[in-house]
Amino acid sequence: DVPQVLAGKHITITAGPTREDIDPVRYITNHSSGKMGYALAKASQQLGAKVTLISGPVDLTPPENVKTILVSSAQDMHNTVMQNIKDSDIFVACAAVADYRPKQNATQKIKKSEQELTLTFVKNPDILSDVAHLPDPPFTVGFAAETQNLREYALGKLSRKKLNMIAANDVSNKTIGFNSEQNALTVFWPKGEKQLNIADKNLLATQLMKIVAEKFEETQTE
Ligand code: C5P
Repeated sequence: DVPQVLAGKHITITAGPTREDIDPVRYITNHSSGKMGYALAKASQQLGAKVTLISGPVDLTPPENVKTILVSSAQDMHNTVMQNIKDSDIFVACAAVADYRPKQNATQKIKKSEQELTLTFVKNPDILSDVAHLPDPPFTVGFAAETQNLREYALGKLSRKKLNMIAANDVSNKTIGFNSEQNALTVFWPKGEKQLNIADKNLLATQLMKIVAEKFEETQTE
């Protein structure tokens, strides 16, 4: 029962971590492997969609027949998404975007002198929220990695960010999520939810994109 809903549709997906420079030789990042986002890109392509994958620095090979754009910082990712989103039908934000970046990106290497070094951080733009708040937004899907109160926090993000759907995972469970081959998700949309049990990220990606296809189709006929 391969849904035809996604055939020819344009899907933009963000994946991986972002890298926030401190100076020309140093940066801060996070443990996102990009596996879930790359799996979603592959699954979407196999369901017939035209896929643009906007990825932070990862160790993965770009999926075949997917337009992959590599970016570094959250600001780079934001700019690239905004330039590419206009003809997208669906946007899936799977990237682990750094919430903050160093206020100053030093032009020269910071030298060690004092016993303490203080860095000040400023907030990065919220890519997903900015896309969802566009005048004519695509169908938007977010992710929520939580260590507690999964449902409450996920539903909060769904409404605050004005999303069509959010896929939440419990990152306190070490066997799933960041860097692992497997994941489990609870998917929420305004009128319902569905549990996707622990599985290989490729299988989970296909299951998730089938739910996206179903809910996207409902918005087209409303
Ligand atoms: O608010 P929180 O960071 O938990 O939201 C996670 C969701 O928002 C993910 O889908 C993530 O890709 C997206 N996000 C984003 N830009 C940010 C922060 C999060 O697109 N700066």
